Amino acid sequence: MNFKNYMFALIAMAMMLSNCNQKEEKSVQVQKFYELFKNSEKTDSTANTNSKKWWKEAVVYQIYPRSFKDSNGDGVGDLKGIISKLDYVKSLGVDVIWLNPIFSSPNDDNGYDISDYQGIMKEFGTMEDFDAMLKAMHERKLKVVLDLVVNHSSDEHEWFKQSKSSRTSPYRKYYHWWEEEKGKPNPRYSGFDVNSDAWAYDAKTKSYYLHYFSVKQPDLNWENPKLREEIYKMMKFWFDKGIDGFRMDVIPFIAKDTTFPVLPEKYKGDWSKYYAEGENLHKYLQEMNTEVLSKYDIMTVAEGAGVGTDKALDFVAEDRKELNMLYHFEGVGLGYLPNEFKQMNPKGYDLLEFKALYSKWDEVFAQKGWGTIYLGNHDQPRMVTRWGNDSPEFRELSSKMLTTFLMTMRATPYYYFGDELGMNNIKFDKIEDYKDIETINMHKQIKAKKGDLQYFLNGQKISARDNGRTPFQWDGSANAGFTAGKPWIKVNPNYTTVNVEVQEKDPNSVLNYFRKTVQTRKQNPALTYGKYTLLDKENKQVYAYTREFEGKKILVLLNFSKENAAANLGFDTSKAKLLLGNYPDSGKNISTLKPYEAVVLALE
Ligand code: GLC
Ligand code: CA
Repeated sequence: MNFKNYMFALIAMAMMLSNCNQKEEKSVQVQKFYELFKNSEKTDSTANTNSKKWWKEAVVYQIYPRSFKDSNGDGVGDLKGIISKLDYVKSLGVDVIWLNPIFSSPNDDNGYDISDYQGIMKEFGTMEDFDAMLKAMHERKLKVVLDLVVNHSSDEHEWFKQSKSSRTSPYRKYYHWWEEEKGKPNPRYSGFDVNSDAWAYDAKTKSYYLHYFSVKQPDLNWENPKLREEIYKMMKFWFDKGIDGFRMDVIPFIAKDTTFPVLPEKYKGDWSKYYAEGENLHKYLQEMNTEVLSKYDIMTVAEGAGVGTDKALDFVAEDRKELNMLYHFEGVGLGYLPNEFKQMNPKGYDLLEFKALYSKWDEVFAQKGWGTIYLGNHDQPRMVTRWGNDSPEFRELSSKMLTTFLMTMRATPYYYFGDELGMNNIKFDKIEDYKDIETINMHKQIKAKKGDLQYFLNGQKISARDNGRTPFQWDGSANAGFTAGKPWIKVNPNYTTVNVEVQEKDPNSVLNYFRKTVQTRKQNPALTYGKYTLLDKENKQVYAYTREFEGKKILVLLNFSKENAAANLGFDTSKAKLLLGNYPDSGKNISTLKPYEAVVLALE
């Protein structure tokens, strides 16, 4: 397993992590898990009710601000745009809004390169707009979670400008520098670098600096207590303003082995030891908790890139006093070809693996900590294209089925804006249409190496991040009602039929189904806290499970295939009462599930 291939994983933001070089082990693990439960009924632990918390009962709605609503016609979504649509968000029944970074940024990586952590990105508005937005959200009893991006800053951040000004600058140790006279640093892979090189040479101070992501995203040095103090101060600034939490970008990466040793030939499965999860990681998170988090009633969620089931509780078990929730990458990594850059297996993903994986992760948090569940976000293609079926015949049905899955698992759902309309991948043909640094720089790299560009572009139609970043589809007017100007990225041409305006009028729309599933979750605490039991494990088409809590038992049946399917439950369901279904006659005959049918039934 060579370094290059291995590191594809790292950057592709761990979709790859779980597939690329760890692919074999991961599938063996999944297989082992599956074997374990093959012949014995899963004896799941009791319901996780250690402590009820608002963030366990919440549905999080993620807004990508750049693409939600533009208020001033410059083609870029903004805070005033968000304010103007808060009644819509409220109408969904969700509780928390997570916003991707809204801070000052030159936008090399759409806001994940921050040049001022206490300033608002010019294109998005001003601090007054932010204050007004926060107020408007709280008035509607919507909580707001911001993105904390502290593994790296922008190279245009004042700290970095100072840091690179001289070797003796007081800010020098805010970043990771490697002086030229020590020889070339040992290779590290960078996600968004055209040469995949995480070390950039700076001629002025004759040193290299580390950047796991783009050359404009230098990694911050968490070993430096002064840097940590600055970060905590900045976090308090936002909490004192009244925000309700942070989603922590690539947080396991903040601590790393800063001796940057040679990577052993074979380190597959062990990459995080060298790139992330350094020995001080949990010391820092505990310090952050003591200094900041413990002082507020807020929620935190770690972007757990590369974190496996064995390590997850180290982040979120209550007695650790670190974070609240973690989202793993194993799920979104399913179905990719090993050793290739985000190429899907033409056969798609295997439902048996999918079920085993989500059951395995449920088990992790059965007693301690708390999980998350998601199938889409700004780093992923659209949920329905990736996990369902976006053909005209099945787009709506399979969107509803996937939504049912997300809203009936024991974990806080993180729901990506637009999925409630069944928005699907735009599938650009040309590289010119892409805006994402990941796709653009990988294309440059493949071109320079005279690789197969067409193969790459075909793969990106399914997996590129820009698929999930096209403008939100409000109505059938020009640019889907997103902007009066020219949108920063093309609008999906299906906006004339797939939009809020059309779906508001249709009681059976994907949108109204989403609202119903949220209500069903709220009205049935079993769906939040209840014990999860996987049924009919070997069924290749149907994902079936029960959720049990305080004497109530709920059955969830999800047909993941485009054919009729039957689940072998082994118990009587004749008295079951329908709570939710995605066909007009759902529940009448659950012994045959129609294509992509989803039903939720109360058993007792
Ligand atoms: C996270 C973000 C992603 C970003 C990367 C670098 O994975 O979700 O969008 O590109 O970190 O900050
Ligand atoms: Ca704007």
